[in-house]
Amino acid sequence: MVKICCIGAGYVGGPTMAMIALKCPDIEVAVVDISVPRIAAWNSEVLPIFEPGLDEVVKACRSRNLFFSTDVEKHVSEAGIVFVSVNTPTKTRGLGAGKAADLTYWESAARMIADVSKSDKIVVEKSTVPVKTAEAIEKILSHNNKGVSFQILSNPEFLAEGTAMEDLKSPDRVLIGGRETPAGRKAVQALKAVYAHWVPEDRILTTNLWSAELSKLAANAFLAQRISSINAMSALCESTGADVAEVAYAIGKDSRIGSRFLNASVGFGGSCFQKDILNLVYICECNGLIDIANYWKQVVQINDYQKSRFVQRVVSSMFNTVSGKKIAVLGFAFKKDTGDTRETPAIDVCNGLLGDKALLSIYDPQVTEQQIRRDLSMNKFDWDHPQHLQPLNLSDSVNLVQVSKDAYEATKNAHGLCILTEWDEFRKLDYQKIYQQMQKPAFVFDGRNVANVVELRKIGFIVYSIGKPLDPWMRDLPAASSF
Ligand code: NAI
Repeated sequence: MVKICCIGAGYVGGPTMAMIALKCPDIEVAVVDISVPRIAAWNSEVLPIFEPGLDEVVKACRSRNLFFSTDVEKHVSEAGIVFVSVNTPTKTRGLGAGKAADLTYWESAARMIADVSKSDKIVVEKSTVPVKTAEAIEKILSHNNKGVSFQILSNPEFLAEGTAMEDLKSPDRVLIGGRETPAGRKAVQALKAVYAHWVPEDRILTTNLWSAELSKLAANAFLAQRISSINAMSALCESTGADVAEVAYAIGKDSRIGSRFLNASVGFGGSCFQKDILNLVYICECNGLIDIANYWKQVVQINDYQKSRFVQRVVSSMFNTVSGKKIAVLGFAFKKDTGDTRETPAIDVCNGLLGDKALLSIYDPQVTEQQIRRDLSMNKFDWDHPQHLQPLNLSDSVNLVQVSKDAYEATKNAHGLCILTEWDEFRKLDYQKIYQQMQKPAFVFDGRNVANVVELRKIGFIVYSIGKPLDPWMRDLPAASSF
């Protein structure tokens, strides 16, 4: 039986390996991690991540041909194909701090693979890494174990959280990059054979290593750029009376542009977009391409601008201060159908409001109180390191935060309500009831275009919805701060 091992049991390692186990009953898949609680959760009834459809697949395969373990060395040494899906966060100190990818976890995984390997292996980059990482990994592997032959492949993951299982079941494409040598081509074919169990051949693309590595960064840069582009338009819509949803619909009808990924919002989040663009910026700078670096940097800057613009709308609308005022925050995850809060815009928006001494009452159907308090106490970029699982000193401003069990509790006696995640349940709330229990004037700030603006105004709310014609209340107020 072919044995696969995946190092890193996170949002990528867990779902991707579960899908391989489901579709390839002839392959034994072991997912390993240094985090004992994470592996314990994968082996329990409550999985460590929420992803629609994941539970069923894990429960169907676990203990059959899918195993979760902390015995990293044993499973790596037994496997023929080793995926590496560890974190590749943004460096927080030293050369390239705030931009470059921190490959500490990758390097330690590679050194461990070299140490324990007694047979030839294919090592697959599943994590998103800078271009040319494979070259460094090859050096680590071959210099530390001369008796074994390693082939490095790049197989970046394109799943989106919230739809991960669907994306894995029918991917737009699977990308495999390898060395253009006979051994490299053989390794590519071996990995291709795994995916060919369920992915049509014409969707499995093979390229050279560097194209595959760069394609992942390029894909995320293009996707994030689309969001920043429509968000930039949303600011102009508010100034001119245009409606960003109508503009998005009209431009999306152009088949060259397409309609997907054109929703204006309070900003993009998630563990990847910002990190990968900053990494791309750093790579451009290292290659002397300063103008190109500046071009991509703007995508992140517009995202920061969008978040601070939102906070400013809230504060300026509420008589220029939210100090001591209760503000309900509906949604904390970076998007619906996930409990993931990494780089969620809610963190920056909440911190902005806390900076003005607002009293926040936060509700999210999938995010725990402990996670919310951690996120609001953490320094930028620290979240993506495994030690984030260690105890943390909560910041003082977290005392101004209350976490509620539902939207009705969160909005009781609130002066304002901010919608920061597009959970379906926020579309169906009884806003009449919410209005009655809020302070007046009652404000809604919709960062996800979830609410029906006309209906809410009819009820009596003063409503701000990103990129929509402004409420008369807000027309003469300052629109945005500079970033
Ligand atoms: P994650 O933080 O959820 O999981 C990474 C896991 O690796 C952690 O559980 C950590 O304990 C473990 N780990 C770190 N060093 C280790 C070591 N030396 N040995 C064993 N385990 C180790 O991260 P996530 O979200 O799964 O991302 C992993 C990679 O995939 C990143 O490079 C990310 O950019 C990329 N990616 C993430 C996507 C997403 O939607 N989350 C989508 C596509 C790519």
